[in-house]
Amino acid sequence: MCSIIGYKGKNAAAPILVDSLKRMEYRGYDSVGVATFDSGSILVRKGTGKVLEVNRNLNIDQMAGKIGIGHTRWATHGGVTDKNAHPHSACKNDIAVVHNGIIENYQELKEELIGAGHTFASETDSEVIAHLLEIHYSSGVKEAMIETCKRLRGNFAIVAVFQDGTICGARYEEPLVIGVANDGYFVSSDVLGFLEYTDKAIFLENGDICIVDNSKLEIFDFEGRPIAHPITQVAWELGDIDKGKYAHYTLKEINEQRLTVVHAGRQDQAMMNKFCDILASAKDIYITGSGTSYHSTLIFKHMLARFGKIRAETVVSSESQYALTSMDRNSVLVAISQSGETADVLDSVRLARNQGSKILSIVNVTTSSLARISDACLSTNCGPEIGVAATKSFTGQLALIYNITDRLCEKCLETERADLAVAVENVVANQGSVIKVAEQMKDASDIYLLGRSLHYPIALEGALKLKELAYVHAEGIAAGELKHGPLALMEKNTFVIMINPHDATFNDTISNAHEIKARGATVVGISDRNDDVYDYWIEIPHLKEEAYYPVVEVIPLQILAYQLALAKNADPDYPRNLAKSVTVR
Ligand code: G6P
Repeated sequence: MCSIIGYKGKNAAAPILVDSLKRMEYRGYDSVGVATFDSGSILVRKGTGKVLEVNRNLNIDQMAGKIGIGHTRWATHGGVTDKNAHPHSACKNDIAVVHNGIIENYQELKEELIGAGHTFASETDSEVIAHLLEIHYSSGVKEAMIETCKRLRGNFAIVAVFQDGTICGARYEEPLVIGVANDGYFVSSDVLGFLEYTDKAIFLENGDICIVDNSKLEIFDFEGRPIAHPITQVAWELGDIDKGKYAHYTLKEINEQRLTVVHAGRQDQAMMNKFCDILASAKDIYITGSGTSYHSTLIFKHMLARFGKIRAETVVSSESQYALTSMDRNSVLVAISQSGETADVLDSVRLARNQGSKILSIVNVTTSSLARISDACLSTNCGPEIGVAATKSFTGQLALIYNITDRLCEKCLETERADLAVAVENVVANQGSVIKVAEQMKDASDIYLLGRSLHYPIALEGALKLKELAYVHAEGIAAGELKHGPLALMEKNTFVIMINPHDATFNDTISNAHEIKARGATVVGISDRNDDVYDYWIEIPHLKEEAYYPVVEVIPLQILAYQLALAKNADPDYPRNLAKSVTVR
């Protein structure tokens, strides 16, 4: 989604804002803009493109002033144009505002504001905020923020700069966090916006407004009642958000997965016990997530059924309003989310909560909304994931799911945990064979991925990676479904990847490979055992514990998608049209 940042302090604001926007660009990135306050006036520069490109064209980082706000946009209302880029100003240019979210009643507000003589410069829903603030500004900044927030329907995180040099923020169903530095304050969508300058954060709650005025901070609710929130020390370090020697964050994060598997094992035992006790006592278990995290829900369901004979239902979060209709106080919803901010996931949680159910969560961002509203929350502990397409957070989720299964099902997976980390290291080191396959596949227009049982969610996840990173049509298919339709698509120039370790599914999937090859398609096997039917073989290590195979199967698929993205000159860290944290419905 969009990222927003505000700074008020002793240093030049513009270079800090540009740097912060660069670090948060993964949240959304079709346009960029900054407003600074200097010598009594507000200056705005904005345009379409990525942060560095727009900065190069407009010299944003040269703008004067020690107070400012910034934004990277991921378009929702209105096309990708310079005018629609944030910040938006009101008629008198005495206010500039940046917004993340959707204002549902913007049409109605816009008509009202036009009727009152306001002129609009953009097609966005966000611009109404600037005009509403302007109407109430004569009563003071605090009044302006309160009255404006009360008029807005939908979800929003707002940062505004006023002509008196005040910076304000407000949050409703979109994240907003204050960074407290020695020489100033930040108001940001994400701690990554200010981690370089301070690790002290105040997480705003829904319905909070903050004002940074003459270097002091005030927080209150939409009724103006004061609120006190603690200052939290952020656990992530700056080193975690640097690319280091890697060309892209995505590659760095793929390479970090040996550690991911280890770190996911480091859990607070009291929290693990609480999580598992709630799960064990549930009458009904539902597991939900979006995108990659949804694929983890499928693995979790499988693990519970296989090792604990525990029945659970998975629900893709965007469908939850149609599926989570019969929960009650004896039900549990397990929500899996890297960011803990995905709107669809938070909607599922609200639905479940309203029916009296307990909420368990698995997150990577432990300060996220999801973590804070859960009855028990476990962390994947894999550090910040910047690449838009999830990689290490997925294997972190799987490793944590293994831990939970092991704890719930009496150490059923005790063997080989240390070996899994070594196996992951081997797969990561074996990128050469994947690169060779990528060369063969670089012009493929259709790629199918087949797997059975636990390998089917990996077929889905591999297809998602190929779509996200390499913009290629890819489909994950349950291997047994081949004969029910997909076989009709198999012909020369079609590539099919069989996810096929040497376990109980091996022989059936080999039979499918023969059926495919007989139709002229090219067959790639991801397996610990080679077979004549494969045109290309990507070797993975043999694992005694078959349940761990998904972790070592998905890594070659991540590498393949990364390589195909490079071959197409696509930026693997920032795939077109996508955002890492989708905080709108
Ligand atoms: C977006 C990202 C995906 C991610 C999904 C769920 O669509 O582009 O990579 O899997 O959100 O994100 P979450 O943070 O909830 O795991």
